[in-house]
Parts: sequence; C-alpha cells; structure tokens
Amino acid sequence: MKARVDCCKAESYFLPHDTFGIVRRELREFDMIAKPERQLRIGVLGCGPIAQAGHFESVTKARNTQLHAICDVAEDLLERFAVTHAAARTFSNYENMLADPDVEAVIIATADAFHVPATLAALEAGKHVLCEKPLGVSLEEVCELKSAVQKSGRLLQVGHMKRFDPGIESAKRFIDEELGEMLAFKGWYCDSTHRYAMTDAVQPLMVKSQAARKPDKDPKQDLKRYYMLAHGCHLIDTARFLCGDIEEVQARHSERFGAHCWFVDVTFANGALGHLDLTVAVRMDWHEGFQLYGQSGSVLAKTFNPWLFRSSEVDIFRESTGESSRVLGADAHFYRRQLESFGDAVLNGTPIEGATVDDGIASVRGMLAIAESAQTGRTVKLADVSGAL
Ligand SMILES: NC(=O)c1ccc[n+]([C@@H]2O[C@H](COP(=O)([O-])OP(=O)(O)OC[C@H]3O[C@@H](n4cnc5c(N)ncnc54)[C@H](O)[C@@H]3O)[C@@H](O)[C@H]2O)c1
Repeated sequence: MKARVDCCKAESYFLPHDTFGIVRRELREFDMIAKPERQLRIGVLGCGPIAQAGHFESVTKARNTQLHAICDVAEDLLERFAVTHAAARTFSNYENMLADPDVEAVIIATADAFHVPATLAALEAGKHVLCEKPLGVSLEEVCELKSAVQKSGRLLQVGHMKRFDPGIESAKRFIDEELGEMLAFKGWYCDSTHRYAMTDAVQPLMVKSQAARKPDKDPKQDLKRYYMLAHGCHLIDTARFLCGDIEEVQARHSERFGAHCWFVDVTFANGALGHLDLTVAVRMDWHEGFQLYGQSGSVLAKTFNPWLFRSSEVDIFRESTGESSRVLGADAHFYRRQLESFGDAVLNGTPIEGATVDDGIASVRGMLAIAESAQTGRTVKLADVSGAL
C-alpha cells in the first residue's frame, strides 16, 4: 500500500489500515528511546544522503527532539524513510510542511543552492532552522539571510558539526582557558580516493530517487567549485572555531591527475600565522587534522572520516607539566550532538554553541577569498569579497 503524503489532516496518518502508519505506531510505542525531556518537534527537509546517514537518526536519538515530519518531492524516499524512522507526518510539498503548526524547527538537508531560499521560507513561517553547511553559495544571499534571522526572532544554526567533535572541543577549551598567546595554526582536510570503500562499509545503504530535486546545474560538473563548497567550508570553519576570525588569505591552487590542491597562507585577526591545506582527493587514507603552537602548549589533532563517528585524537601538550592529555571514549555522534545543542538553544534559551549565521557568512567569505586569491595570485581580505562561488 502507498504511504500517504501531505498528511496535514488528522485522518491521514496513524490510520489502522495504513501499513506505514501501523509500522510507525508500533515503532513509536515499543522501540523508541525513552526521552524524559521536552522534545523539539522537528521537520526535516530532504531525504537525501545526509538525512539518511545523519539527520534522521540524530533526530530520533537526540534526548530533546522528535522526528515530527519529513519532506521530499521524491515520494518513494518519503514512503521509505517515514517507515524506517517513524516520522509522524510526511510532506511532498515544503510549503505544506511549513504550514504545519506542530513543526517547531526545520533541518535543511538539501543541495547547497537551496539552503538560503529554504531557510528564508522557514523563518518566514516562524520556524527555527538548523541548516546544512555551507550556509549558502553567494555572499549576497547569506547577508540577506542574516537580516531575515534578525527580523524573525528565530534561531539559525549552521551544520558545521565538527564543532561537536569531543576532541576538537577539548582543543577549543585548552585554547580558551590555558593556551595564552597563539603563534601559529596549520590545518589540513584531505578527502581520500578510498572514501566510498570506507563509508559504504559503515553507512546505511543510500537510497536514491529519480524524482529527487536537484539544482539546474549539477554541482559536481565543476569539481573545483564543488570541493571548495563541500569540504573547504569545513576546513575554514574548524580554523575559525579554534583561532577566531580570518583577515586575509593568499592561496595557490593546483590540479593534477584529477586531484585538486589548495595551499593557503592565512592571517588570523589574533595575529597568529596560519596555513590551510585542502586536497581532494589524496591517494591515501582520509587525512584531516591540525597542529597549533601557543605560549603554554601545543595541540596535535588527527580527525577521522566523519562517518566513523569517532572523536578526533587530540593531543594537548602542556608546557607546565611536560605531559600530554587526550580525550578518550567520548560520544562522537557529532550530528546528534549538534542537534541536541540546537534543541537546548531553542527550548531553554541557551546560547547557540554551534556555528551561527555570522560563522556561516565568514565561511562563505573565506571560500570566496581563497578562490579569488588562487585565481589572481593576490592576497585577498575577507572583508573585500563579494559575489558567488
Ligand atoms: N555535514 C556533513 O558532514 C555533510 C555531509 C554530506 C552532505 N552535507 C550537506 O548536506 C546537504 C544535502 O546533501 P545531500 O547529498 O543529502 O543532497 P541531495 O541533493 O542528494 O538530497 C536532497 C534531497 O532534498 C530534496 N529536496 C530538495 N529541495 C526540496 C524541496 N524544495 N522540497 C522537497 N524536497 C526537496 C531532494 O529531492 C533530495 O531528495 C548539502 O548541502 C551537503 O553539503 C553535509
């Protein structure tokens, strides 16, 4: 039997004769994790790979959220994931999901080009938003979004989930509380030619649909742009999370045997020297991490492919003791942890711990500045960039 879609009317979900409704009810009654806290009712826009591998599970597992609704134009995906994750309601039309008064917050899990329009529509409808990274693809659209956030009085968090990696969090605490002056930071993010061999082994089977909505131009047609948007924004955000604002960059780019490499000299506002290495794809294992030198210690970090849900191995050396420490055994479901933090911010009014709209804008500025510098050979100030990637 076909699952029902656009279920705004009470009679159209949890009907005893609806196969999917029965499965959902049973899942809800018997199998779901007990959640003592007030739960934020979430609607997820997009049933694509990131929702399938990260967000659906995060919403159902998080201590303070529930999967109230899912939305996708692809009805085959809707049917399948409504059952798998026991979503209470399904929508093939985004406006209808936004019109559902029971949806309190939306996760935007669509292609990059749709992030800003979808977020604007959600804010307009009075919903809080957790939007996938990158926040947008042009400076103008993300700045417009900032005004909309301010007017709406709603919260917007950007899905830079590495901020919720317990190892990276430990480095951030050390920097804020003990490091003193920062001398220099080196960060690298190198996707691997073997990534799919690794991720296929641990992710659920990815379900694709011919009916999925894609941007007019396939983002993967221009790999240089795609790699910057997909991966560069992570590297920039991690650098900014740890070291603060980036003032200017001087970048070089090389493409050989289908691999792209950016080496970027960075000036941080705090005066530290920086170097970023974005290489996709390296002929080796996933290679990501950073090294940081400061007044009272140093940090050396190895980050794993995110789908291993493994905390970065972060060695913090303290000059005062001559010893290193490392967080072990931590809960590293970054996607669920970012959502719980977002839920706390919405429900309890705690400050946003994740990336804010300003952080999202700074990432877009950083990507634009690197692209411009690599093209012109000049040093580019982030404050001076404009346009789209
Ligand atoms: N944080 C991370 O680690 C991480 C990892 C992978 C992807 N991402 C990000 O997640 C986002 C989504 O990636 P993906 O690969 O899942 O995308 P995708 O394009 O494959 O899937 C998005 C789904 O959204 C649906 N959709 C789009 N617009 C819609 C609309 N207006 N109404 C209804 N349905 C709509 C599409 O039909 C599609 O099924 C990207 O921005 C990507 O950068 C983040």
